[in-house]
Order: sequence, then structure tokens, then C-alpha cells
Amino acid sequence: MRGCIVLVTYEEDYQKSLADPGGFWGKAAEEITWYKKWDRVLDNDNPPFSRWFVGGEMNTCYNCLDRHVEAGRGDQDALIYDSPMTGQVEKYTYRQLTEIVARFAGGLQSLGITKGDRVLIYMPMVPEAAIAMLACARIGAIHSVVFGGFASKELATRINDAKPVAVLAGSCGLEPGRVVEYKPLLDDAIELATHKPSHCVILQRPEAKASMINGRDHDWNDLAVKSAPVECVPLAATDPLYILYTSGTTGVPKGVVRDNGGHAVVLKWSMKHVYDIDPGDVFWAASDVGWVVGHSYIVYAPLLNGSTTILFEGKPVGTPDAGTFWRVIQDHKVKSFFTAPTAFRAIKQQDPEGKLLPDYDLSSLKILFLAGERADPDTIMWAQDKLNIPVLDHWWQTETGSPMGAYCAGYGIKPVKLGSISLPVPGYDIRIVDEENPSVEKPAGEIGVIAVKLPLPPGTLPTLWQNDDGFTNSYMKDIPGYYKTGDAGYVDEDGYLYIMARTDDIINVAGHRLSTGGMEEVLASHKDVAECAVLGAKDELKGQIPMGFVVLNAGVSRDDSDIVKELVALVREKIGPVAAFRQAMVVKRLPKTRSGKILRGIMRKIADGEEYNPPATIDDPEILDEITASLKQAGYPKN
Ligand code: COA
Ligand code: AMP
Repeated sequence: MRGCIVLVTYEEDYQKSLADPGGFWGKAAEEITWYKKWDRVLDNDNPPFSRWFVGGEMNTCYNCLDRHVEAGRGDQDALIYDSPMTGQVEKYTYRQLTEIVARFAGGLQSLGITKGDRVLIYMPMVPEAAIAMLACARIGAIHSVVFGGFASKELATRINDAKPVAVLAGSCGLEPGRVVEYKPLLDDAIELATHKPSHCVILQRPEAKASMINGRDHDWNDLAVKSAPVECVPLAATDPLYILYTSGTTGVPKGVVRDNGGHAVVLKWSMKHVYDIDPGDVFWAASDVGWVVGHSYIVYAPLLNGSTTILFEGKPVGTPDAGTFWRVIQDHKVKSFFTAPTAFRAIKQQDPEGKLLPDYDLSSLKILFLAGERADPDTIMWAQDKLNIPVLDHWWQTETGSPMGAYCAGYGIKPVKLGSISLPVPGYDIRIVDEENPSVEKPAGEIGVIAVKLPLPPGTLPTLWQNDDGFTNSYMKDIPGYYKTGDAGYVDEDGYLYIMARTDDIINVAGHRLSTGGMEEVLASHKDVAECAVLGAKDELKGQIPMGFVVLNAGVSRDDSDIVKELVALVREKIGPVAAFRQAMVVKRLPKTRSGKILRGIMRKIADGEEYNPPATIDDPEILDEITASLKQAGYPKN
């Protein structure tokens, strides 16, 4: 199998995937081991709810682990844990990982956890995070991983929605210069939540020992070592594998559901067709298991493919320096590497000449993939110049679970156009439509909202967790017959896609998707705040950073800077450090339309130094001058 090439062209496959989705994905599904073959590849009888591989039975964990051991891959590395934070490198072969996961799954079963139960995972980047996910998959428990940078309140919201029977957590995460104790955050979250999980299983890390609550808390190692291994449980293809919460436009996150069958089929397919990775190759996605990139391309896809995956606990810079990525690529012979543009901006900032590069042998590296936020042409050109390999931007979302638009490298790489994520991935019929009148498609070169014609391909969200109405209202209602991506962009005359901005209140900070609405809810809860707005201003390193504007209640005479400090601390406490909310300014009024809609878009343009036209409906145009003056005082626009 090594080095095999895809024999059909991208164009042939793309056309086939739209003309005959059942035939196309049914063929791809032959790469997965099924206990029982499906009755129908696609059931689209109840749009917009489509179900893939109906009647089929399989197990994702079996496809990720056991079957590779049975096929003779037992001694190949499945997962390499590389942690510049602790100085550890640990390698797990497929055989070892299967045994560990089977035993831990037995431990979960011994707590009474069974098919359909939810299990929340709040873990740093340690192998046990992947082991926890795979163990849940093995017994049909539905996992919900929460990113470690979220604080108690966010955790509590997710506990209340998913209602987990158990929480699996690390005692701490390691950030440069500080140990983040997870257990007190977890205890607070359970205190805040109305739903109380019956069990917490805690991985005690040496950097911080968690105090345990008798009866509720269990030591990870007791469970992992003493339990008997268990076999994989056959599951319906349509059974949920996981729920992953992602930012919506309000403070309430959306529980994106992923099924087992379609997910396994499309991820396995994508490893070759999108990333050009064969079984046995080493693939590295430098993300976090708390994000969709971590779910799909640190854990599930490389393992479904029989490849080797890397789980990296560190940062692109400062752990210990801007050469860390090169060291990992060299030491583990990484063939394709996937990260967020921010990471490369951070490296470029610290080592603009790439002076650290010649210290490493990067001959294994064939392609760099970027995603998660808009990749600015400067960063792409810098990476191309320094690494001398193709640098390919690609575009996807938590909701889709795998790329919607990409230079599908397995078919042979198309010419790269800077600023474009290339062409739609097979399965995605992408249209650019007018925001006001979605039945009108935009001609090449004109920006519009990006929609995908239904049915969506396998692996995309079948619904939101116990919220079919939310699913329909958020994604399916505005453009009948289409999925609304929430992104705006255009296609050029060659069909290449350019992703320009979000159409909603979501911002992207260092590749992390955050809701400005959620931050506004926190600011509004401060006793001195009458009203507020949060927007994402351009940032050289993180792409965007949140910036708050608050109007104080009449009669508040405290120092503005004290209030701002409290607001910054409040967002950190309620949402978490990952929000990176460090800037707020007190203003007299917010610009609004006569109907009371805050003109956030115009405020953002002022902050970014872009041209703008105040709408005819603006209530009082002079407020824009006040906002411009406040921003100027704070040093905006930056240049
Ligand atoms: N647990 C606890 N805290 C976390 C955390 C985690 N898992 N991840 C981040 N944080 C904290 C950071 O320590 C930081 O805290 P601070 O305010 O005390 O400094 C804060 O959240 C903001 O983090 P971040 O936005 O990551 O900024 P940073 O300055 O620490 O690092 C980069 C900047 C560019 C190096 C970093 O953002 C990065 O590596 N980005 C790549 C992003 C990525 O891989 N995204 C995945 C999508 S593909
Ligand atoms: P998430 O759900 O966290 O993966 O974030 C998805 C959002 O990130 C998308 O809707 C886009 O707004 C943005 N995004 C992801 N990849 C890209 C990309 N390559 N270019 C531009 N924006 C991107």
C-alpha cells in the first residue's frame, strides 16, 4: 500500500460524488470494517436530516485499533506523545494502544458506563486524552471533550447540556510558566451545574496532585491497571460517537453531534485523498484534542488509516524555542504536518530569517497544511520559502468534521493560488449566494454567503445534541435546501474558493473559535455596565483579538481603568484564558441603527482602519467620531 496514488482525477471523483453520493461513499465505505453492511448508504427521506449507512453496524475503536493489529500492524507506532513541557517522548504501538484502551474501556464499564451514556473529557494533551476517547468509542459511550482553556462556567454549561454519567479529567494542564490545576475548575463546574455526574476519574499528574472526593472520584491508574480488557461493542452507523461543543452566536455553545459510520468512512478517505497519507506514514496535526482538528486529525483519522499520529504537548514558540516544530518533524519523520497559521506567525515573529531551520533534517516533510483561520499570503509565502514544500490552506468547521475545501493532495496538487483554499472537496456542492436573496447565486469574483447544497456528505453533523430545532434554525432555515456555513467568500473564474470572513458574531483568535456574544453576556453581567459590544479586531499574531466597548450605568463614578481590569478578569473567570480578552474601553454611547441594532461591523472597520459607509439608518453618526477617537487613544488602527 505504501506510496500508492489515487488513480482517478479530482474532477472525476468530484462529479461522481455529487451525481451519485450513494455510489461514491458506498465505495469509500469498503475501506472500513463492518460487522453488518448497511441497508442504505444515504437516507434522505426527511430533509434536512440525512443519515448515512443506515442499518450498518461497526465500531470506530475497532477500526482505529484492533483491526490493524489483526492485519499485522501491531508493532507499528500508532501514537507518539512528544511533550517539550515535560521532556517526555512515549511511543505506543498499535498492539500496546489496543491493550491499554481495551483495559480502560473495561474500567469505564466497571463504573456502570454503557452504550449511549455521555462521558465528559477534560484533559490536557497527554496520551490518556486519546485513550479516553477511544475507550468511550469502544463501548459506545458518547464522549464530549472540553478544551482545557475553558473555565468552570463553560464546563458547567456543557455538563448541563450533555448530562454525562462520568467526567474523565487530568489533575492539571501545563502552560509555559504555569501549571493550570484542572481539578478545582472541575469541582467548581460540578458545583455550578444542575446535573451532577456520578463519577470523576482523575489522572494524577506529578506537577499537581488533585484532592479527591470520596465516593465520587476515582484514580485513573486504579481503573486502567486493575480492569479486565473488553471487546468492542457493535454500534449502529448512526449511533453518536461524540458531541463537541462549539461557539455559536450566543453564550450557549452548540453541541455538534458526530455519528460513527459516516465519520469513519470520510475520515479514512480524507487521509489519502486530502492529505496524501498512506498507512504507515507519520502524520502530525499540532492542535488540541479539545478542538475538532484534534478529534479528527490527532485521534481518529490517522488511526483509522493505520498511520502514526503525534500528540504534541507544547507551543510553537517558547517550548523551548521557535525550532520545536522542526525538532518534532525531524525526530518522528513526519510526512504531512497540519497546524494553524497563527502558529507559523508566532515562529516567523521569533525567527524571521528561519535561522533555526538548518539545525534540523526536515527531508521527511512533504506538505504543510494550514487551517482554522484565514491564512494570510505573507505567512504562506514565508513558510513556502523556508520549508521549500507545498503549503496548502484548507477550510472546514467543527460542524463538518473534515475539510469542505482543500487542495486534495492525493489526486496530485493543483496550482496553488495565494489566499484561496482551492476547490470543494468531493461531496460538497458549494454555492456563493446573496445574503438578502439567497436564491440568487453570485457570479465569479463577487462576495456572498457560502452555502452547501444538501445533502451534506457523511461525517457532517446529523443534528445538534437533543436539539433538532436548533440544528434547523442555525444552519438549514435561512437558505432552504442548503447548509449555511456562516462564512462569506467568493469563487474565482477557475472555481477556486476564497474564504473572507464570518457572517455572524463568531471570531477566530489564534485559530480558536469564540463567540463575541458570549463575551458580551459576561460584560453585561458586571454591575456597572449598561450596555456593551465585543468585536474582533485584526491582530498580527492571533489573526483577531476581542475588543470590548462598554457604556456605564448613569451615576457610576469609579475609575474607568478599574472597571476595565474587572471586566478583563471577569471574562477570564467566566469563559477562560483562551478567550484572550485583554482590551476594553469605556465609551459614552454605542453606534446603533434607529431600530437599536449595534453597528459592530462598522466599529470593527474603524478599529482595523478599513473604509466604511455608515448606513442610512444610523441613529447618530457623530457617535462614530467618538468611537474613532477612543480607538485612536488606544492605538487603533495599528498602522
Ligand atoms: N489550558 C489552559 N490554558 C490554556 C490552554 C489550555 N489548554 N490553551 C491556552 N491557554 C491559555 C494560555 O496559557 C494563555 O493564557 P495567558 O492569558 O495566561 O497567557 C491564554 O489561554 C491564551 O492562549 P493562546 O491564545 O493560545 O495564546 P498564547 O499567547 O499562549 O500562545 C500561540 C500564542 C500563537 C503560540 C498559540 O495560540 C498557538 O499555538 N496557536 C496555535 C493554535 C492552534 O493550534 N489552534 C488549533 C486550531 S487548528
Ligand atoms: P472551527 O469550527 O473552530 O473549526 O472554526 C471554523 C471556522 O474557522 C470557519 O467557519 C471559518 O470561519 C474559519 N476557518 C477555518 N479554516 C479556515 C481557512 N482555511 N480560511 C479561512 N477561515 C477558516
